[in-house]
Amino acid sequence: MESRAAKREIIQRVFVNRSLTLENIKCYGFDMDYTLAVYKSPEYESLGFELLRDRLVSMGYPHELLGYMYDPTFPTRGLVYDTTYGNLLKIDSNGNILVCTHGFEYLRGEKVDEYYPNKFIQRDDTNRFYILNTLFNLTETYLYACLVDFFTKSSRYKNCMKGFKHGDLFMSHRSMFQDVRDAMDYLHETGTLKERTLKNLDKYVIKDPRLPVLLGRIKEVAKVFLATNSDFNYTEAIMKYLLDFPSGSKNPKKPWRSYFDLVVVDTKKPLFFAGGTVLRQVDTDTGKLRIGTYTGDFQHGTVYSGGTPMFFSSGCVHKCTPLAYVSYPYSTPFLGSSDIVCDLLDVRGKDILYVGDHIFGDILKSKKRQGWKTFLVVPELVKELQVWADKASMFEELKHLDIFLAELYQDLDSGSQECPDITVIQNKIKMVTYGMDLCYGKMGSLLRCGSTKTLFASQLLRYADIYSTCCLNLLNYPFSFLFRAPLVLLPHEAAVESQTKEQIPELSEHMLRSTSITWQCECEDGDCGQEDNCARNNPPASTET
Ligand code: IMP
Ligand code: MG
Repeated sequence: MESRAAKREIIQRVFVNRSLTLENIKCYGFDMDYTLAVYKSPEYESLGFELLRDRLVSMGYPHELLGYMYDPTFPTRGLVYDTTYGNLLKIDSNGNILVCTHGFEYLRGEKVDEYYPNKFIQRDDTNRFYILNTLFNLTETYLYACLVDFFTKSSRYKNCMKGFKHGDLFMSHRSMFQDVRDAMDYLHETGTLKERTLKNLDKYVIKDPRLPVLLGRIKEVAKVFLATNSDFNYTEAIMKYLLDFPSGSKNPKKPWRSYFDLVVVDTKKPLFFAGGTVLRQVDTDTGKLRIGTYTGDFQHGTVYSGGTPMFFSSGCVHKCTPLAYVSYPYSTPFLGSSDIVCDLLDVRGKDILYVGDHIFGDILKSKKRQGWKTFLVVPELVKELQVWADKASMFEELKHLDIFLAELYQDLDSGSQECPDITVIQNKIKMVTYGMDLCYGKMGSLLRCGSTKTLFASQLLRYADIYSTCCLNLLNYPFSFLFRAPLVLLPHEAAVESQTKEQIPELSEHMLRSTSITWQCECEDGDCGQEDNCARNNPPASTET
């Protein structure tokens, strides 16, 4: 009989970096944009790009820019923009450059060296290097390439290393970056993008009847909250659209807020997890913030806004207006809004599983500052998995080239005069890597460049306990599930393992005989979907995961 695991398609699975017992999760937190509200791609990014491009033209940028249309095959999330030279860079976690483009031109070896003599950037120099981390940044990424492309090709402008000259005017890459950033903030903060989205929700937002099912099921076993950087009115409209189904459909008609114990809008993540903001109650009839201090008991489904930053002075928390909501004893200095959420819901950080799409604002900060359990939503995984399956031969070729390279040195030591010529293999590795990259898109994979992991991949591995293509994949696991991390061998352990591989069949046979372990999955129906990782076959070393 075909197992349930085999039936559970790979894109419906949740992948595990660190073991996590779902049973221990007492509270689930959700981000909204690109997590619960999944925007249709590339329609939504095209809309964002056109609004951004038009805004720049209205600011005085050349009309010819209107000829550029969004190309979803170009940008990859997680690229770094060098505001000094106008280059888009793909880097690893140490700042080594893996791919470098100027406009739409791929820069090769010596050309990259001209800009970056060490093929390396100090990525901590956040004043110069801007990480395009979010799915909202995709449109902006593409626009940076369009701007460089346009000005480089236009005969009216003279190319300089740090920008373009037009008569006695100099347009630096830095100033163009600032203009694009300002335009982007303008589109978000004035509600221009939100207004256009709300006018055509069917075109831009995926409505999935499984979402109320998931939230409803979670609500039966744990507390649930929403923490979004969006404002109340937008959140109200989007969540209503996502969760309100006509009566008579499979989902009972329930107001959207009833799915949550707590809703926080305007959270100002990542600040939400650090210094925090003043949480003020929102009047859900008017969308306005309530004045006065609420002193009653915690009310289910209440909406708070984190729009007002807190000021700190000499160790005390001061609220910057007298309108603060919470009757919260601010006895602890430097208390973040996320601490207040924990207090309101009566849960500790480690009891919370927070689901979000922003590797920095949702995942890294909640993990590093608050010790929350984290679930990163990575929609790009659909494509990544598809390429991984379809182009397996290319990955195999890369592996073989690596082995071939290692074998050349096998019989040599520090006394050897022989110096193998490895240029052919190195070039071949470069060609295969480039070919692999193109299978994903013009800037390659989100997670790797050949056999090297990108900065994004390193952060995903480090800060996301679990990750999946979308949050709905939680529906495929019981709330008692133990997400068990695969055993990853360190290089020295892998070397030992390959040496002793031949001995293993003998050894395991001996173990089987002496321990009578059955290597069959012991889950109820004989299949938990984790194969070798089955929680029951691999009890955790400690009960705390
Ligand atoms: P969340 O993902 O639900 O926390 O919400 C993301 C919010 O951030 C949305 O309201 C976006 O409009 C907003 N946002 C995304 N990118 C930018 C930006 O570059 N500038 C200002 N706001 C942004
Ligand atoms: Mg989001």
